[in-house]
Parts: sequence; C-alpha cells; structure tokens
Amino acid sequence: MNLIKKFLAAQTAVLALWAVGAQASTNDAIAERLKPVGSVCIAGQECAGVGAVAAAAGGAARSADDVIAKHCNACHGVGVLGAPKVGDTAAWQARADAKGGVEGILKTAIAGINAMPAKGTCNDCSDDELLAAIKKMSGL
Ligand code: HEC
Repeated sequence: MNLIKKFLAAQTAVLALWAVGAQASTNDAIAERLKPVGSVCIAGQECAGVGAVAAAAGGAARSADDVIAKHCNACHGVGVLGAPKVGDTAAWQARADAKGGVEGILKTAIAGINAMPAKGTCNDCSDDELLAAIKKMSGL
C-alpha cells in the first residue's frame, strides 16, 4: 500500500467512526423528542414538573400586591369603566353574591367580562394568584 492509500484508509475509518457516533447521538435526540409531553403527577407524591412550570411562568408565586400593582390596579385602582374599586368591599360583595361567592367572580375574572380582559391581563397568573389578588382588592 502506498502512502496515499494508507492515508485514505485512515480517513475512511475516521469517517466510519464519526458516522456511528453521529447516529448514536441522533438516537438519543430522537428518544428525547419521543418522550411524552406531559408527565403524570399523582396526588400525594412529589411532582417534579410543577416547579419547572411555575418557574417558567415567572418564578415563585407572586404576592397579591405584586399582581395587583402590575395588572389590576390600572383599572381597579380608580374604577375605570365600572371596575369595582380596590377596597370597595360592598361593590365586590354584591358581585360575589351574584356569582355564588368569590370563586364565582374568580371564574369571570379568568374568562373576562365586558371591559375586563381575561385574567385582568395577567396571562401567566395562576388561578391562585388571581384569587389572592381578588381577595386583597375586595377585602372579602
Ligand atoms: C383593563 C381594565 C381592567 C384590568 C387591567 C383588570 N380589570 Fe377586573 N374588571 C374590569 C372591569 C371594567 C370590570 C367590571 C366588568 C363588568 O362587570 O362589566 C372588572 C371586574 C372584575 C371582577 C368582577 C367580575 C364579576 O364577575 O363581577 C373581578 C373578580 C376582577 N375584575 C378581577 C381582576 C383582577 C384579579 C385583575 C388583575 C389581575 C383585573 N381584574 C384587572 C377591568 C379591569
């Protein structure tokens, strides 16, 4: 074998090894992609995904004050477009009574109603965060 042939043979071996390696990492990547999108969480057991979702949604749960200051106060602070005002418990109470309690007006707040945008513009707020904001604003 002359030098050029030896050189080519070595090159081919390297190429073959590289191809095997590339295939292996592709299989890993495929397995990763084929993983189920949601993992099931069982009541009473620790659920690894929940923290990740909360983190993706903006870290730990925000305080009611944070949510109100960033999202709700613009309208509920002064009562824009008929929004019940922060601290006007009677106005919130009347609404809650009409909808079967605070949970009832929480549902409306999530869905939105008239000039009230869905989730009060806090699209990444959890139901609990919205409920805490509603309780704080209403005093209910
Ligand atoms: C763009 C203005 C606006 C923002 C921002 C806003 N709201 Fe409202 N909200 C309103 C208005 C207006 C109403 C009254 C709607 C109606 O009854 O016609 C209302 C009503 C509500 C009600 C009562 C719903 C019912 O069933 O009577 C709740 C609860 C509520 N808002 C929660 C929130 C929360 C929580 C936030 C912040 C995360 C928020 N809102 C942000 C305008 C706003």
